[in-house]
Parts: sequence; C-alpha cells; structure tokens
Amino acid sequence: MTIISVPTEFNEEDLYVDLRPIVQHPLYLKCEGFNFAGSIKLKAATEMVEAAEWIGVLKPGSILVESSSGNLGAALSLIAASKGYGFVCVTDSRCNLSARRFMEAMGSQVHIISEPAADGGLLGARIAHVQELCASDDRYVWLNQYTNTDNWKAHYRTTAPAIARRFPQLDVLFVGAGTTGTLMGCARYFRTLHRQVRIVAVDSAGSVTFGGSPGRRMIPGLGTSVRPALLDESFVHEVVHVEEPDTIRACHRLARRGFLFGGSTGTVVSGATQWLSQHGDRSLTAVAIAPDLGERYLDTIYQTNWLHDLYGEDVLNPDALATDLTA
Ligand SMILES: Cc1ncc(COP(=O)(O)O)c(C=O)c1O
Repeated sequence: MTIISVPTEFNEEDLYVDLRPIVQHPLYLKCEGFNFAGSIKLKAATEMVEAAEWIGVLKPGSILVESSSGNLGAALSLIAASKGYGFVCVTDSRCNLSARRFMEAMGSQVHIISEPAADGGLLGARIAHVQELCASDDRYVWLNQYTNTDNWKAHYRTTAPAIARRFPQLDVLFVGAGTTGTLMGCARYFRTLHRQVRIVAVDSAGSVTFGGSPGRRMIPGLGTSVRPALLDESFVHEVVHVEEPDTIRACHRLARRGFLFGGSTGTVVSGATQWLSQHGDRSLTAVAIAPDLGERYLDTIYQTNWLHDLYGEDVLNPDALATDLTA
C-alpha cells in the first residue's frame, strides 16, 4: 500500500510496456504518465521548484510563471497548489483544452498567446510575455525550463538511473526532444556511467532543435522554433526526425492495442521503429521514453475531424496503419 499526503510523493518509475508484439522490434517503453500531473514534467518541475526554494528565490507569496505547452504547466500548477504559491502559465493556441482546464481547476491562471513573434515564432512571443510579467511585479518567479539546469538534473538523478537499474545491458535509448531536459539528463548520465549506451534523440519534422528550417508543427511536447539552450549535441549519438502523420499513425496503432499515449510518445515510438528497422538486430536491448498518456489528446490526435482537417482523410487508412510501425 502507498499512502501519500502531497501529490508529488507518488510517481510510477518502474513501468515498461514490451512493444514487441506491436512494433515487431525489441523495444521497451518506459511509461512516465502515472503521477498526479500526468507526465514526466513533474520531475523537472519538482527539481526546479525545490532548487529555487533552497536558494531563497522562491518564498511564501511568490507567483510562479512559466511558458509551457501544457505538461510543465500542469505539473507546476499541482506543485503551486500543494505548496501555496500562485502560478501563471503562458501558453499558445496549441495548448490542449483539457490541460488548460486542469491548470485552472488547481487555481492557476492561463495566458494564451496567439500572435507569433516576428523572430522566434509562438515560443518567442510566449517568452516575451513572461518577461513582461516579471518586469511588472517582483513577486513573479520564472524558473525558465529552457535554460534551467535543474530541468536536466531531474532526469540525471531519477529517469536515467531508473532505466539503468532495470536494463543493465541497455544498448540504445530513444528520447524525445522538447526543452531537451529529458534528453540531456539521460545522455549525460549514460555518458558518465554507461558509455556503451547509444543515445538517439527523436524530434518532430519542422523543429529547429538540431538544425533545419522551421515548419508547421501541431502536436505539442516535442520540437522547438528556437534552439534549446540546454542542448549539447556532443552527448547525442544520432537524431531521428518524425513527420506528424507518422506520429499520428503510431499513436493510433498503440491505441488499437489498448495503450492510449500522448502525441510525443507516438513520435518517439515511430522514430525508434524507423531506427530499429534500419540498424536493429534482434538481440539489441532498446528502451524508449513515453512522456505522457493520451487522455489530454482526445480532442486532437484521437479526434477524426481534427486529423482530417490537418493531415487529410487518408492519414489513418487501414493500410498505412497496418504497415507503419512494422516498417
Ligand atoms: C508530452 C511531452 N513530451 C515530451 C516533452 C519533452 O520533454 P523535454 O522538455 O524534457 O525535452 C514534453 C515537454 O514538455 C512534453 O510535454
């Protein structure tokens, strides 16, 4: 039995789905969505908040403010509610309605930015708004997940050692790249302690994180329109880019087996499957990280009209669904 008194005390760290029957490659999916914030971002949020409290930046009466596409915002709203801070989440029109409702239910405010900045897109405009708020009132505290090293340290301390403990013979780890906190924490840990592990970053097509030109991206979580400050590519062995229709098909393929995951999990699974079909030998031990679950995406990724409007009527045609993950 587990009994808790604050919501951050519970996080399922030890759950993996064996994807072999679905993707026909040896791949274990580490599920990070089983906590009260519903995503891996609870770890980064907890680490950043505790560090800010420790150095005295965050104190009674503080109001946290953060730019988030949803999941870090959800995690911070939970922590703010449980510790008695205010919280303003600055997001954009791609934020899922349910993520917004989640934050508002916990007493947080959500500011939605709809006009992209001339330089830096929607993310640039969100950050400009956060800076304006901080300049207007010194109770605001911006932890800044894009530059805060406690973001990656959370994964260096928790996610990566948890994987290494369960998979001492790990050959390859697939990690999605958003702020690159998860990627850099895991990559630094394995470089330091288990050098044989290949780190494969998975990014959305249209993201500028690893170079390339910006393109339309409708699925939140992975990808950036501004290169992430935390990224140090020397720790990353390879990068795989995934087109959004492939993400969608991977999500639906998993859902048809009863595993409803979020969009970034579809991206990571699709990228891992591509990589394994090109390089994989059946004896490899491979793990991919699933940042959240699918309920927040029922009105988007799992909604037919949304899919058809954005990706065309054939995006889920049965042939594409049947072959996509077994390529
Ligand atoms: C659903 C989802 N997947 C992946 C990520 C990327 O994680 P990171 O910011 O550690 O790169 C995020 C970040 O917010 C997310 O919300």
